Amino acid sequence: MGTEWPQGRFPGEGAIAGAESVTYEPAPPHRLQDASELLAVEQVLARAFCDNPLNVAVISTQSAERRLRANRHALRGPLRAASAQGGVWVARSGPRIVAGLITTPPGLYPLPQPPLVSKLLGILGQGLRTASRWGEVHAALQALHPIEPHWYLSSLGVDPDAQGAGFGSALLGGWLERVDREAAPAYLETDRQATLRFYSRAGFQIKDSATLLGVPIWTLWRPPRE
Ligand SMILES: CC(C)(COP(=O)(O)OP(=O)(O)OC[C@H]1O[C@@H](n2cnc3c(N)ncnc32)[C@H](O)[C@@H]1OP(=O)(O)O)[C@@H](O)C(=O)NCCC(=O)NCCS
Repeated sequence: MGTEWPQGRFPGEGAIAGAESVTYEPAPPHRLQDASELLAVEQVLARAFCDNPLNVAVISTQSAERRLRANRHALRGPLRAASAQGGVWVARSGPRIVAGLITTPPGLYPLPQPPLVSKLLGILGQGLRTASRWGEVHAALQALHPIEPHWYLSSLGVDPDAQGAGFGSALLGGWLERVDREAAPAYLETDRQATLRFYSRAGFQIKDSATLLGVPIWTLWRPPRE
């Protein structure tokens, strides 16, 4: 499968969070090489998911700033665990990371829990109720998780100001090239109905649906490609 890079599919200039004006210079998506960049990925993903329905239901506060903070604490452990397996991919605009993807290779789900101290810091940073609700959600998702070996995409997020510019498609396409190299199936969950078309274009099909904390979610499966 050829990857369609976002080159030329968006204007030469645009606002990306925190920058006055940015010239888009998209580079092909790749695995994160340097752990010092994990903070940037954490920030991008925390912002990307801030207004997602499940995020709002779990972190039940109207304050986007508090949801953002809770997200960063919730992401820290899983990002480090995934990064240790080479499972963090990014897309950039110039030097800036604007999209992140967390994946688990076949047979490695669920990844090991972070060390106790990091886990406790994560729980305290999120707040006990939020951490316990995420625990419920993860247990429910784990019950739906397929047994057959597959590549798992646990998160794909684009910085909100850079969404709709092709970065998500490019990052997903780069990762799927890796998946297709070993003719493996792929699996993910989404709580945004609007993303079903985005994923179906890449070959995913709805496997299951469920309601968690009053929020509809879908699990998606992509059969192996020879
Ligand atoms: C879904 C997402 C990864 C797509 O990446 P993107 O760079 O914005 O998308 P692209 O420009 O490559 O492709 C555009 C497609 O993405 C979808 N899309 C774009 N912005 C979106 C948004 N804010 N929310 C949901 N879907 C969006 C649209 O369906 C669009 O498809 P269409 O042409 O059929 O309308 C990104 O919008 C995002 O981070 N959303 C929030 C987090 C999320 O829901 N992640 C998916 C669950 S793991």
